[in-house]
Amino acid sequence: MARVASTKKPLIVAHRGASWDFPENTLASIRAAWAQGADLVEIDVRLSRDGAVVLLHDDTFQRTAGCALAPEAMDLADIRKLDAGAWKASQFAGERVPTLPEALAAVPRDKGILIEIKAGDTIVPALRRDLQPGLATAGRVYLICFHYETLRQAKAALPEIKALYLAGGAWENKVRTEAELDGLVTQAVAAGFDGLDLGDDWPLDAAQVRRVQAAGLECHVWTVNDATRARQLVAAGIDSITTDRPGWLRAQL
Ligand code: G3P
Ligand code: CA
Repeated sequence: MARVASTKKPLIVAHRGASWDFPENTLASIRAAWAQGADLVEIDVRLSRDGAVVLLHDDTFQRTAGCALAPEAMDLADIRKLDAGAWKASQFAGERVPTLPEALAAVPRDKGILIEIKAGDTIVPALRRDLQPGLATAGRVYLICFHYETLRQAKAALPEIKALYLAGGAWENKVRTEAELDGLVTQAVAAGFDGLDLGDDWPLDAAQVRRVQAAGLECHVWTVNDATRARQLVAAGIDSITTDRPGWLRAQL
């Protein structure tokens, strides 16, 4: 597998592509991420009724394409008819919902992609089908997921791809403890994952990042659109920052 040429830390990950300025999870937002200097893009994937892996964050296409159906209730041919760009701004009208192979083809060899599995483990065979042929030509590829068992099955099916266990999210309104972080590390090591990808609600400092990395895990953080916080995380030694604004954040750092 090709590797990202840059060894600079932290890597900057464009969340759903350069989604501050472009419609999320589209080829336009992925291409804009490269233009804005991102090292990797993050995308969300779900399964269509006929087995295609398509890019979508929400349960349905309502917010981003004005269709109340879930991808699991639609065939790819009908998903192709949706407009995934107009909701963001009229200039993006006509952007389509990409498939995973189309997204992979938009990743230059010196860049990379984090693929967030939003579906359950039934998507794993389709991921294997779509990812294996692309690995020789794509840049660095990660699988990320909040669901431990789904990520464990994906890692077992695709051991050559790095897997990051997602945890956190301000919406959970939880106080994060060091014991909880240690528990995640234990779980990740047990499953053979390659790292953690933590929500920015986690009050990570340098000692905690070192604890994760000392266990042989990478330590990534999402989604940071605040320059002060990003600088703290850089000083703490994290491996990547996911942001909606890769160009802006790069300039701030
Ligand atoms: O990069 C991880 C992050 O994308 C998880 O949250 O809701 O934006 O998919 P969400
Ligand atoms: Ca995501």
